[in-house]
Amino acid sequence: MSLSLLVYRSRSTKQLKKDRVVAMSKHFAARNRDRDITGMLVFDGDYFMQVLEGPRQKITALYELIQTDPRHEEVVTVLDEPIYRRTFDDWGLGFIVINDEGGNQIISSDLSFDNQLYKLGLDNLKQVDETRASMIIDAFAKGRWREAYTVPSDELYLDLPEQALPEFNKADSLGLYPVNFAFQPIVNPVSKLVTSAEALLRGPNNESPAEILSRYSGIDLYRFDLESKQYALQIAADMGLPCCISVNLLPMSLITIPDAVDFLLDRIERLGLSSEQIIVEITEEEAITNHDAFYGAVTRLRAAGIKVAIDDFGAGFAGLSLLAEFQPDKLKIDRKLIQGIQSNGPKQAIVRAVVECCYSLGISVTAEGVEQAAEVDWLLEAGVSKFQGFFFARPALNSFPEINW
Ligand SMILES: Cc1cc2nc3c(=O)[nH]c(=O)nc-3n(C[C@H](O)[C@H](O)[C@H](O)COP(=O)(O)O)c2cc1C
Repeated sequence: MSLSLLVYRSRSTKQLKKDRVVAMSKHFAARNRDRDITGMLVFDGDYFMQVLEGPRQKITALYELIQTDPRHEEVVTVLDEPIYRRTFDDWGLGFIVINDEGGNQIISSDLSFDNQLYKLGLDNLKQVDETRASMIIDAFAKGRWREAYTVPSDELYLDLPEQALPEFNKADSLGLYPVNFAFQPIVNPVSKLVTSAEALLRGPNNESPAEILSRYSGIDLYRFDLESKQYALQIAADMGLPCCISVNLLPMSLITIPDAVDFLLDRIERLGLSSEQIIVEITEEEAITNHDAFYGAVTRLRAAGIKVAIDDFGAGFAGLSLLAEFQPDKLKIDRKLIQGIQSNGPKQAIVRAVVECCYSLGISVTAEGVEQAAEVDWLLEAGVSKFQGFFFARPALNSFPEINW
């Protein structure tokens, strides 16, 4: 039986008192139990957020009813994807009411479902089960979803430290080659917003990632690849980077290290970061040998709220067939296809096709390695809105560079 997860958000058409929401939840819970549907209903005094899990067809049928219910409006689907296990297993429909009428902060939860949850409080909701659904509720409960639907303002960057942080070289203590990270922003020049910053591996003598990785082979290479990324996250956390953070991983690191995803999630949590802030960029440099294991790891990353990007697209092994089998959240077009695109017919034809393909698959496209205004102009015209490259900012060691808009 295929299980499905559906999350939507909507606005209540009436001012609802807490008791009314509780009574509604209990009524829906009873009906959901009959349909083998579990989930969670959250109300913040104004908006609902509901998570529904269960057999795909039953979820689809219920959602059709819910969408036309006059008790709410502006129904927006947040997530609709297959899952392999439920988050709210025994729950007919748990509920949390966050604000009462009058906007007073009250937190009321359905104690009978899970006493633990109430004791832990909303801050710790994700401890119930670290899945994308619980992350979404957590973000909703904290009001963060309102920001999640708008890109962060560049004013936020005023608070960033201007001075580079002291060099790290922390990996030394683990017997790993000492590493630093240079951060390079990915920007939308039209809205003048920064969407994320890629953490680029650098050695103590400014060595490139390739030079550093060439010091390792076999399992040591993959372990180093994975474990070094904790320092990227740490520097980003110390800087208080208010945008997403991209880290690179070799596909084989996700495959050969069985607990790679848990390792990342553990570090993300310890550093007080949100998994929704993290993007794992999978470099295509290496052929993927075990497709099932790779998709399994990618599914786990995404199930935890981490976004997945294909890096250097067009330069590596997997190419278009990878896109047919697995749709990443983001795709970064390799610099070789971008450089001089304004005057290169074949590059234009290829990039147009990739942009079109990603558009229909709901994948966000970034152009890498932009160095000239003419490249940016052509790409904007072709529908690319996110850019990374020297034209906007050079990577800055252990700090966030100034952007040349
Ligand atoms: C915010 C909201 C959440 C709802 N959630 C559920 C639900 O989880 N299960 C359910 O059966 N109905 C739910 N409903 C009610 C459905 O829209 C619909 O009224 C109901 O399924 C129809 O059942 P009935 O024909 O027995 O009245 C919800 C309605 C609203 C406004």
